[in-house]
Amino acid sequence: MAPRKIIIDTDPGQDDAVAILLALASPDEIEVLGITAVAGNVPLSLTAKNARIVCELAGQTGVPVYAGCDRPLIRPLVTAEHVHGKTGLDGPVLPDPEMPLADGHAVDFIIETLRKHDSGTVTLCPLGPLTNIAMAFRKAPDIVDRVQEIVLMGGAYFEVGNITPTAEFNIHVDPEAADIVFRSGRPIVVMPLDVTHKALVTKPRNDAFRALGNKVGIAVAEMTDFFERFDKEKYGSAGAPLHDPCVTAYLIRPELFSGRQVNVEVETRSELTMGMTIADWWGVTDRAPNALFIGDLDADGFFELLTERLGRL
Ligand code: BDR
Ligand code: CA
Repeated sequence: MAPRKIIIDTDPGQDDAVAILLALASPDEIEVLGITAVAGNVPLSLTAKNARIVCELAGQTGVPVYAGCDRPLIRPLVTAEHVHGKTGLDGPVLPDPEMPLADGHAVDFIIETLRKHDSGTVTLCPLGPLTNIAMAFRKAPDIVDRVQEIVLMGGAYFEVGNITPTAEFNIHVDPEAADIVFRSGRPIVVMPLDVTHKALVTKPRNDAFRALGNKVGIAVAEMTDFFERFDKEKYGSAGAPLHDPCVTAYLIRPELFSGRQVNVEVETRSELTMGMTIADWWGVTDRAPNALFIGDLDADGFFELLTERLGRL
């Protein structure tokens, strides 16, 4: 089968970096048409830089990286340096990128790419706040029906929240954008905290990354060394959750994941629960399902896949 064409929309972020590396290491299954940066974990200037650092780490400077929106649709930007460090990619010492940003705005790249390729052949993979995607849908409504699928990291139901008591970071940062995406009518696969909190980098798993001995394996191990302290302290968990790589792993091995087709709506009015994803997991309403909401994964299979692929770079 031909590799699946995707656009990665991202705010790197150590876990975004691992998600990108996994995609770039898997050309048989995934063709990365471009990477679009958005403000999120850190401001846009840093996410646009980090995305290029990651491409260079993978030795793949031919992938175009575009800078996108520098703030949410209508709200001030909330960032997460307390999780990802000042640069967003704290941990390994990696050189500044030499590859330039691609000319043009990320939102226009998303629009042009969807118009250029056959309808239903390009998948969007958002790993950060949904600002770029929502802007593209608003600016060019004709592209919405051309999207094959949206596979995103965001939201939570049973795990509730990580940036507020009731909201996950990506959705909380730009709830209006998330609302536009969840109402788009396109097929959506959601990787919420419910599953990503099961994709934990335990010590043996991180040792396996380091033992690869290549630049990428060592850098990923060092990213995890930094990134894990937050979750260990906050949740007492066994290691860092690899949120965003669940998205790219799903594209390669969907059978590692299980979930339910449910209705998901986004809270955009209550300051108390802003950005909460209301997933009708138990089917208690008659609201039509609009997303496959993932709840579980084969964590050992996921880490075997990831380690094997990172070893290829
Ligand atoms: C999400 O927020 C960011 O901190 C991570 O990169 C991930 O995309 C997890 O809530
Ligand atoms: Ca992210």
